[in-house]
This record gives sequence, structure tokens and C-alpha cells, in this order.
Amino acid sequence: MKKYLVIGNPIDHSLSPKLHNFWFKKNNIKAIYEKKQIDEDEIEEIIIELKKEKINGINVTVPFKRSVIPFIDELSSEAKKTQSVNTIYKKNNKILGHNTDISGFELAIRKKGYILNGKTIFILGAGGVVPSIILSLIKMKVGRIILANRTKKKAEDLKLIFPQLELVNWGQIPDFEMIINATSIGLSSNDEIKLNYENIGKNKIFFDVIYNPQLTKFLSKAKQHGNQIENGKMMFIYQAHQAFTIWNKIMPVIDEETIKLLDI
Ligand code: ATR
Repeated sequence: MKKYLVIGNPIDHSLSPKLHNFWFKKNNIKAIYEKKQIDEDEIEEIIIELKKEKINGINVTVPFKRSVIPFIDELSSEAKKTQSVNTIYKKNNKILGHNTDISGFELAIRKKGYILNGKTIFILGAGGVVPSIILSLIKMKVGRIILANRTKKKAEDLKLIFPQLELVNWGQIPDFEMIINATSIGLSSNDEIKLNYENIGKNKIFFDVIYNPQLTKFLSKAKQHGNQIENGKMMFIYQAHQAFTIWNKIMPVIDEETIKLLDI
């Protein structure tokens, strides 16, 4: 039986096992997908298990998307550019690292019919998933990408990779057509990002990378003020979909049942 794993710390909240095991069953694949909380010094031995084919594929989540890179033989161009790997597998005796968050974000946006071509996008946060979102936005040919992070140094580090980024101070709200919350504010339901919704106006797109809770205060207030809202659920499903397709060479179906599976 094939074995797949998602590694991270913490990992309890991960819905990847639920989704992949559901697709294994639907496609009659004899495999199991588990989650494992690890420390950074355990990465190497897990990659060795992949080399020995005791594990057939690994997903990587916070905070190891960058720290797995030294143990990988070959990175896809997207993984290299973002210095972020979320999908690992063995092919032709080599350990390959890929980043499916980039296309996950793009598909979530496109399938909803949002056209970002030429638009001004404002990103809050500079954590692990942000390089993938930026690369995805660039691929979608947005006009401007403005970013604010509480710790300015992290925003400046991102600008070294993506020189087109425009940085503003945390708390400053520029004019935008789409705003993306990529901070962890909102994970706990009391958390809130201080925004002056009256000044922002309406008919903007508010995207929250968080999908649990499904409706953060960031999104519920945006909706009350007449904006379109989107949480991170479809992005999560599409990144998993691509990892599953790479590993199993089968494209699983994303239907209502799949989407409902992640309602928690
Ligand atoms: P990591 O930084 O380890 O990749 P993450 O969950 O991907 O973790 O990112 C957390 C993001 O949320 C960061 O941008 C963080 O800002 P800092 O870089 O200043 O830490 C942001 N964040 C978390 N709590 C915050 C808070 N209370 N106020 C403002 N930003 C916050």
C-alpha cells in the first residue's frame, strides 16, 4: 500500500489527510495519507524514507516549506523562484520539489471568474504562503502589488525576490481593487485586522487565505460593506488537487461532496 504524508508543526489542523484519503477511495487507489508533526531536525530522515520508497509523496506545510529545500535534488522553476516547496516526490531516482500553492491560488481566482489583469492588489502579511501568491499574481498580469507587513524586514526581503513589490507601512491602507489577508490574524475568532471599511469603499474583492473559520471578521465586515469575499478553501483544494494529480497521474473530481468535506 502506498503511503503519503503531510509534515508541519503544528499539524493537527491539517485537512490534507481527509481530502486525499477521500480521493483515494473515490478512485479505488490503495493508499493512505497521514499527517505527522515533526521538528526541523527530522526532515532529513523523512526524505530518506521517500528515497527508499517507504513513503511515496510528501506535502509540506508551515513552517517547513523553505527548510526542506536543502534535502531536495531538483526544484521546479516555481519552487525555486518562491523558495517554497509544498509537494515532494521521487522520479527517475531523484527527489523533486514543487510548489502547487501558486496554481492553487490562480485556479481559486479564475474559477470564480475574477479577472485581475491590470488590477491593484494589496497584500497583508509576508509569511510562508506570500511568495506563492505574489508569483501567482504576476502570472495573472496584475497591474500593481502593494504589501504591508508588521515586521518590515520580512517585507523588504520579499522585495529582493520580487522587485516590483511596492511596500507600505503596517496600518497604512492604499487604494486597491483586491486585498488579500495572508496574515494569521483571524485564525482565532476574536482576532481582527483594523481596517476603515468606510474609507475603503465597496465592490472590492476581499480574499482571506484562512479557511477555518470560514468567515473571518475580515470577510464578514467586508461583505457588510458591499464587497465580494472569498476564503482560502478553494485555494487549499486546488493545491491538493495538483499534488494528487502529480503523484497518482489521475485528476480527482472536485464536486459539492469534496467541497463539503472541508466544512468544519
Ligand atoms: P511564518 O511567518 O512563520 O511564515 P505565517 O503564519 O505564514 O508564519 O505568517 C504569519 C504572518 O502573520 C506574518 O506576516 C506575521 O507578521 P510578522 O512578520 O510581523 O510576524 C503576521 N501576523 C501574525 N500575527 C500578527 C499580528 N497580531 N499583527 C500583525 N501581523 C501579524
